[in-house]
Amino acid sequence: MGASRVAVRSYGTLRRCVSPRALPLQFARNIRTFAAAAVSPPSKAVVYEQHGSPDQIVSIVDLPPEEIKVNDVCVRMLASPINPSDINRMEGVYPVRPQVPAVAGYEGVGEVHSLGSGVCNLAVGDWVIPSPPSFGTWQTYIVKEETSWHKIRKDIPMEYAATVTVNPLTALRMLEDFVELTSGDSIVQNGATSIVGQCIIQLARIKGISNINVIRDRPGSEEVKEKLKKLGADAVYTESQLSVKNVKSVLSEIPEPLLGFNCIGGDSASLVLRLLRQGGTMLTYGGMAKKPVIVSTSSFIFKDLTLRGFWLQKWMTTDKAKDCRTMIDYLLSLVQCGKLKYEMEMVPFTDFNLALDKALGKLGSKPKQIIKF
Ligand SMILES: NC(=O)c1ccc[n+]([C@@H]2O[C@H](COP(=O)([O-])OP(=O)(O)OC[C@H]3O[C@@H](n4cnc5c(N)ncnc54)[C@H](OP(=O)(O)O)[C@@H]3O)[C@@H](O)[C@H]2O)c1
Repeated sequence: MGASRVAVRSYGTLRRCVSPRALPLQFARNIRTFAAAAVSPPSKAVVYEQHGSPDQIVSIVDLPPEEIKVNDVCVRMLASPINPSDINRMEGVYPVRPQVPAVAGYEGVGEVHSLGSGVCNLAVGDWVIPSPPSFGTWQTYIVKEETSWHKIRKDIPMEYAATVTVNPLTALRMLEDFVELTSGDSIVQNGATSIVGQCIIQLARIKGISNINVIRDRPGSEEVKEKLKKLGADAVYTESQLSVKNVKSVLSEIPEPLLGFNCIGGDSASLVLRLLRQGGTMLTYGGMAKKPVIVSTSSFIFKDLTLRGFWLQKWMTTDKAKDCRTMIDYLLSLVQCGKLKYEMEMVPFTDFNLALDKALGKLGSKPKQIIKF
């Protein structure tokens, strides 16, 4: 794997770059005033030059310093997650992806390192996240305009700040935007161990909504069930436990769900469909099993089910996304008061290769990998 390889190509397109040769002139112009603030420190970045299997294509590369313009903020990145969509972008199978060569990563948190002279609302030391999220967060320094950054509270663990946008916000929007749910209703989901799944459990609980959860059959599934129940899961089943003729007989007192969430596909999606009540809706937002969703004819005719989809990146372009920073502050306030938590593993940047292998599932089921820069 390429993390120890040295980059040999030009990375001019990766940054609004001050080339190393141009530096002396740049410094000469600025030296009397803001020499230190005029450019960022050099950055170490996870770069890919072509699409393919991430462990085959990424390298850790030194990028040259970047000019900090009047309205720019230079941020020292603190932490960033490896999400399934980051992997899909590197594979080249995600519908929107940066042009290669590209720095990987899409969300994360950093600390303001230095500012352009026109920046008014941020100060050195503030914690910020790119909002809306944007490409290239897997690097040690990023320079972007002030408006690209959202200042967040600092009294929470940095791994939550690094991960708040892609998964918790998806869970919140999916619970609120598709079916009107009121206290006493119930939902069903597969992929309940995912970060989105863990957030759905807790956000549903806050709204008084019961939740039925499906996990895949895996070593330690009893322990996983207990963990999810501690988060607020009302019921957790492995897929094989639900392979019974009358699947609804397992539900006991929980009302039949009105809304289902599918992030797996294949047979696991069929289980969600089978558990939905008459007129229910299934929302697909991921395809971890890389298998299609198959719906029986009778589900449409006799149950009148509705199938919908959600994509945060598209939602980010809608009018509703104007409030996304308020929603993020709300989610972080839940983290701060202990009402929203999920399992993560912080990994030093020097162990990036191992974190990537874990995120790719090469070492079995692992918690979300968070790169600590
Ligand atoms: N549409 C959107 O806007 C949007 C936004 C955010 C996330 N997503 C999608 O939501 C899904 C979950 O994301 P996340 O970051 O929350 O996940 P995550 O925390 O990285 O967890 C991965 C999940 O996928 C399961 N999984 C992994 N490989 C699998 C396989 N081959 N077959 C079945 N299950 C498998 C894992 O189960 P185990 O615990 O058993 O290993 C775990 O539940 C992903 O598909 C992601 O792309 C979509």
